[in-house]
Amino acid sequence: MEEYIYHTPVLLQEVLKYLLTEKNGFYVDGTLGGGGHAKALLEQLDHSGKVIGIDLDNDALEASRKNLEYYRERFISVKGNFKNIKSVLSQLGINSVQGILLDLGVSSFQIDSAEKGFSFRSDAPLDMRMDRSQKLDARHILNQYDEQSLAEIFRKYGEEKQANRIAKTVVRYRINRRIESTGQLSALVEQVIGGRFLIKTLARIFQSVRIEVNGEIENLRLAIKDSADVLNPGGRIVIISYHSLEDRLVKESFRSLSAKMISSGNKIVPDIPVQPVLKIMTKKPVTASEKETAENIRARSAKLRAAEKVQEN
Ligand SMILES: C[S@@+](CC[C@H](N)C(=O)[O-])C[C@H]1O[C@@H](n2cnc3c(N)ncnc32)[C@H](O)[C@@H]1O
Repeated sequence: MEEYIYHTPVLLQEVLKYLLTEKNGFYVDGTLGGGGHAKALLEQLDHSGKVIGIDLDNDALEASRKNLEYYRERFISVKGNFKNIKSVLSQLGINSVQGILLDLGVSSFQIDSAEKGFSFRSDAPLDMRMDRSQKLDARHILNQYDEQSLAEIFRKYGEEKQANRIAKTVVRYRINRRIESTGQLSALVEQVIGGRFLIKTLARIFQSVRIEVNGEIENLRLAIKDSADVLNPGGRIVIISYHSLEDRLVKESFRSLSAKMISSGNKIVPDIPVQPVLKIMTKKPVTASEKETAENIRARSAKLRAAEKVQEN
C-alpha cells in the first residue's frame, strides 16, 4: 500500500456535538477510513468507552490501526460492510450501542490511489471496488450491462442528463473492443460531452459507476434500518452524505422512522398511530462552515443529518 495520507475529518466538531451523548458508551464508526473521526471520538470518551470501526477496504483498516495504535484497548476494527452492522456487533457479543457514525462514500485516499480506479484524473484499470475481495467491478459493468441498464445507472446515480447518449457510445465502442481502463471510459464520455462541461460530467459518470459497483444506495438503506434497531434509547445516529441521492435517502428514512402515524392508504380509513423509533435532531442538514470549505474541497458537498433513538415508554 502506498503511504496513507490522513485528511482532516469532515464536519468534525458537528459530528462530536451530535454523536457524543455518553462518555462511557460504545460507538460504531461504520466508515472508519483512516480513523480520523474515530480518533477524535476516542479522545473524548472515558476509559470504558469504546469505538468499533468497520470498513470494507483493507488499506483503510491498516491505516486506521496505525493511527489509533494508542487507543488499541478501546478500539476494535472489523473488516465488513456497515449494512451488516447487526451481525458485526452480535459477533462481538454487543447488543446495542450509544452512537453510530456513517461518513459515506470513498475517502480522499481511495480516490487518490490511482490503482483503485475511482478517479478520472489518472489512467488505471477500471476497478472501483472498495472491497477487493468482491467480484463485481466497474469493468464488468461497462462491458456486460446492456445499454438501457447503463443509461439508468448514469441517470439515477449520476443525475446525468446525457445518460442515454453516453450509454449508446459505450455500447457502440465495445462491439470491437473491451473497456479496460478509466482512460477509455473518460475518452468515451468526452466523445459525447466536450468543452467546459466535461469535468463535471466525468465526475457524475464515475460517481454513478462507483455507486453501482459498491451497492452504495442499498447498503445505506439497510444500514439505517438496522442501526435504528441497535441504538440504545437516547443514542444517536449521525450520517454525512456527499450527494443528493444519499441525502434524500437519509432524510426520508429518518422521516419514516420518526413518524407518529402511517398512512392507511385509504381516504375513508384514518391513519394508523405508530410508536416512532427515532427523533430527528437536524431539521435541515448541517453543512460545513466557510472556513472548512475553504480548507477542504470535500466538505463543500457534505450534509450531516442526525437522529436520536426514542426513549421507550
Ligand atoms: C469518507 S471515508 C471515511 C473517512 C473517515 N471518517 C475518517 O475520518 O478517516 C469512507 C470510508 O467508508 C468505507 N465504506 C464505504 N462504504 C462502506 C460500507 N458499506 N461498509 C463499510 N465501509 C464502507 C470506505 O471504504 C472508506 O474508507
